[in-house]
Amino acid sequence: MEINKVYPENCIETLTRMPDDFLDLTLTSPPYDDLRTYNGYEFPLNNIIELLFKKTKPGGVVVWVIGDRTVNGSESLTSFKHAIEFTKHGFSLHDTMLYVKNNPIPSDCGKRYRQAFEYMFCFSKGQPGTFNPIMQATQPGKSFKSFRITKVGRNDLAHDHVVPAERKVSNMFFYNVGTSSSRDRIAFEHPAIFPEQLAMDQIFTWTNEGDLVYDCFMGSGTTAKAAHVLNRNWIGSEISKEYVEIANKRLTMYVPEICAAA
Ligand SMILES: C[S@@+](CC[C@H](N)C(=O)[O-])C[C@H]1O[C@@H](n2cnc3c(N)ncnc32)[C@H](O)[C@@H]1O
Repeated sequence: MEINKVYPENCIETLTRMPDDFLDLTLTSPPYDDLRTYNGYEFPLNNIIELLFKKTKPGGVVVWVIGDRTVNGSESLTSFKHAIEFTKHGFSLHDTMLYVKNNPIPSDCGKRYRQAFEYMFCFSKGQPGTFNPIMQATQPGKSFKSFRITKVGRNDLAHDHVVPAERKVSNMFFYNVGTSSSRDRIAFEHPAIFPEQLAMDQIFTWTNEGDLVYDCFMGSGTTAKAAHVLNRNWIGSEISKEYVEIANKRLTMYVPEICAAA
């Protein structure tokens, strides 16, 4: 199977051709709730999840970025239905992370607060084999040096306590959406991209250099670009010819071989 390539087809076809236990990470945002009109929309969920389970290596991970539509003032529950479906097919729900939008698109949401996040469900096949946590300084400004504080206990005895210099970030990730989410102008010809930094953070966390990252709904190629920048291999499927063209044009700026193959 050729890697570092966007397959212009239904992901079912790409997945079916892959060897079993092939993928280290799938990072994707599915078309859900018919929220937008994609060219060539088709979405057989159960089939896709079943294949993802087969094709993911033991210890591999799927990060599924999804939100809900509001129908007659209530949420569709699509995200949770998908999560339950993944667990029925053998995946564990390892972590429910949030993708919080710093600048959510203004909309009239009736008697509800402004919708500002999507779920990033992290499903794993067994326990994740790789975890490279993103760290932050415990005390902003005093970056990355352990420090000692003296505490006085209940018995009035003072004792030293070493505060670690850094700690893992939380599972809420904050990103700008819209034009500041990528420098690649061409990406915005697609109606529903996720931020490039989101892809960088997830790929960094769950894979190592040389690993294989898949996006079954490649859209404008965000996952591929981030994987390439982080020295991971990648593969993608995109059903719409128009979006495949956008992804390939975008990726040509970073992966010259795409240009040669196209
Ligand atoms: C939410 S968008 C993904 C956007 C992408 N994350 C990005 O940053 O550009 C979903 C994409 O899935 C594609 N799609 C829908 N059904 C598909 C299928 N069965 N196989 C492959 N692609 C599909 C749509 O054409 C659309 O481009």
